[in-house]
Amino acid sequence: MVDDLLKWRKEFPELDEYVHLVSHSLGAMPRRVEDSLRTFTQLWREHSIEAWETWVPEIDKFSTSISSLLGAPKNTVTVHQNVSVVQSVLASCFDYSTKKNKIVYSSLNFPSVSYIWQAQEKHGAQIHVVKSDDDISIDVEAMCDAIDETTIAVPISHVFFRSSYIQDVKTIAAKANAVGAHVILDCYQSLGAVPVDVIDFDVSFACGGSIKWLCGGPGAAYLYVKQELIDMFEPAMTGWFAHQAPFAFSMPKQEYSQDIWRYLGGTPSIIALYQACVGVDIVNQIGTEAIRAKSLRQTKYILDLTQERGFKLRCFEKSDRRGGTVVFDFDNAESISQELNKRKFYCDYRPQAGIRISPHFYTKDEEIDQFFEEIDNIRKL
Ligand SMILES: Cc1ncc(COP(=O)(O)O)c(C=O)c1O
Repeated sequence: MVDDLLKWRKEFPELDEYVHLVSHSLGAMPRRVEDSLRTFTQLWREHSIEAWETWVPEIDKFSTSISSLLGAPKNTVTVHQNVSVVQSVLASCFDYSTKKNKIVYSSLNFPSVSYIWQAQEKHGAQIHVVKSDDDISIDVEAMCDAIDETTIAVPISHVFFRSSYIQDVKTIAAKANAVGAHVILDCYQSLGAVPVDVIDFDVSFACGGSIKWLCGGPGAAYLYVKQELIDMFEPAMTGWFAHQAPFAFSMPKQEYSQDIWRYLGGTPSIIALYQACVGVDIVNQIGTEAIRAKSLRQTKYILDLTQERGFKLRCFEKSDRRGGTVVFDFDNAESISQELNKRKFYCDYRPQAGIRISPHFYTKDEEIDQFFEEIDNIRKL
């Protein structure tokens, strides 16, 4: 079988040095990142303050690349440094002093997201966490039942980091929209691996970051805001880049920009955009559908290899709700994962889950075989 996507492998020469099955945690580094970072430093060195003329447009350039992956209209996406900042900006948009102050999310959310919403309790927010029965999935009916007329925000993950389960976002968003609540969709574990369409999902907000499936390294995150909501909110967590005329340096009141920049804060991390744009560009060129098709084939193959060995599956088996990661556990899995990493078979281990591995568009089938052979070798010791 010819694997067309392997032609992208030449953009990641380091992949010939080790087996990289950890793109759910840290995507591989595209070789052109070094050139892009050099462009950034060169601009700074050679043009001093004039570098901003080129740096500032990078904010919208990066946002536009992300919007095409999200299926979002132009000018509905902006950037931040990480998802925790994005969630904090959004949390600062709401008033928790009225009866509509309930926040609904699940126990399988990424912890950072939970910490930010829990912190809103001191401003009057009422937190409702829907528990998982199996640590893998969340009952969509339980989520919908928890969302009622008093709910203001529903910060949920599209794909859970622990189990790679794909949530039924459309159903949850339909319930939230019916009661005037806002879904904030964390796409960190989906964008670049699983198709996302924020318009079809009909969510109010979406976010994620560059580190994982987008092969962008740490430092860049994105925020999508539904077009008709953009000028409805005034984030209390703000900064001069969110002002309608930042270079007027006006005081003391914030006059919010009328466009998506009103969700910015202080100076964005421009260098992170130079670093992250290369991976986003590659993912855009390949297209998420092609990445997903390959991922479904290879994750199915991984499932078969775990079953042959009698490992306990800690992720969802059926393809319709299985994200890009396979999670499995067995005796001593944590220490074996550490040994695998020492031997340059990169994976990770998470408590209440197990070893997490993910193929990506650059993964060869034989690397999956080599990975499981290495597990067998270590277990025989
Ligand atoms: C679903 C999800 N959300 C958020 C994060 C990270 O959040 P932050 O960008 O704040 O570090 C991760 C992983 O690191 C994740 O898997």
